[in-house]
Amino acid sequence: MDLSKSNCVITCYFFLFSFLVVNSSDPHFANTNCSDSRSFTSDSIYKSNLDSLLTNFSTAADPFYASRFQTDTSGQGSDIVYGMFLCEGQVSIDNCRECIKVAARVVVDTCTIQKSAITWYENCMLRYSDTNFTGVMETVPSYVRTRLKDIADPNLRSKPFTLIYKLIGTVQESEDLYAYAKKDERNYWIVQCTRDINASVCGTCLNTLIKEGEEKSRGKIGWHLANV
Ligand SMILES: *[C@@H]1O[C@H](CO)[C@@H](O)[C@H](O)[C@H]1NC(C)=O
Ligand SMILES: *[C@@H]1O[C@H](CO)[C@@H](O)[C@H](O)[C@H]1NC(C)=O
Ligand SMILES: *[C@@H]1O[C@H](CO)[C@@H](O)[C@H](O)[C@H]1NC(C)=O
Ligand SMILES: *[C@@H]1O[C@H](CO)[C@@H](O)[C@H](O)[C@H]1NC(C)=O
Repeated sequence: MDLSKSNCVITCYFFLFSFLVVNSSDPHFANTNCSDSRSFTSDSIYKSNLDSLLTNFSTAADPFYASRFQTDTSGQGSDIVYGMFLCEGQVSIDNCRECIKVAARVVVDTCTIQKSAITWYENCMLRYSDTNFTGVMETVPSYVRTRLKDIADPNLRSKPFTLIYKLIGTVQESEDLYAYAKKDERNYWIVQCTRDINASVCGTCLNTLIKEGEEKSRGKIGWHLANV
């Protein structure tokens, strides 16, 4: 499957009771995928480059988080580490920093030797690799988290999808590749792409993701789909 290079997220909060609004110290909320191919040792230059990248991602000044998205590299040559993060568009700068900080801790605790890893944390995604993935096609891994409870009223079950498809149209017009619709505190929908891809690729990515996720998330009161 040769889809366009993609990074996207869809979050649907529908009749939702503080789903995703969780204690940020709860590691169970993270979903982490460590690549199984290349590894580093704890005394390697790669490891110290990675630590430096993650420290920067976790402790920067406010303007660094203003766009909710950054890419950076650390080191050079065969020891270079490529990094990226995305915070969901609605989170504050402080919450973005906090989310990245926790995600960085969780990911290195989970992926102790792997050179490539991605973690989706409550409101952010953090990723690094020894290869340059910026703008690079990848449709796996992906991640679906659903709130197990069903939407009670069957007439409302298809409603999230109508809105999501509308938002997938809207997001391609938006500069920051982020769109949301909100009915009230408990009912809102978010679609977002990382900004290393362009609007049309973002649309392709989201359409792929929503098709993959429709089965699993249909009728659930809350869900979050993410593609690398
Ligand atoms: C981390 O930030 C410092 C200070 O801004 C900078 O000098 C350094 O190059 C950054 N390192 C990385 C890996 O981005
Ligand atoms: C990584 O790849 C992107 C897209 O091809 C390119 O724009 C960027 O310059 C590359 N980064 C580095 C550090 O080579
Ligand atoms: C990690 O991603 C790969 C695909 O890139 C997938 O095969 C694997 O099951 C994922 N592992 C976990 C723990 O999600
Ligand atoms: C968007 O990016 C894709 C993949 O890099 C490229 O093929 C396409 O021409 C770009 N589209 C626009 C409108 O720039």
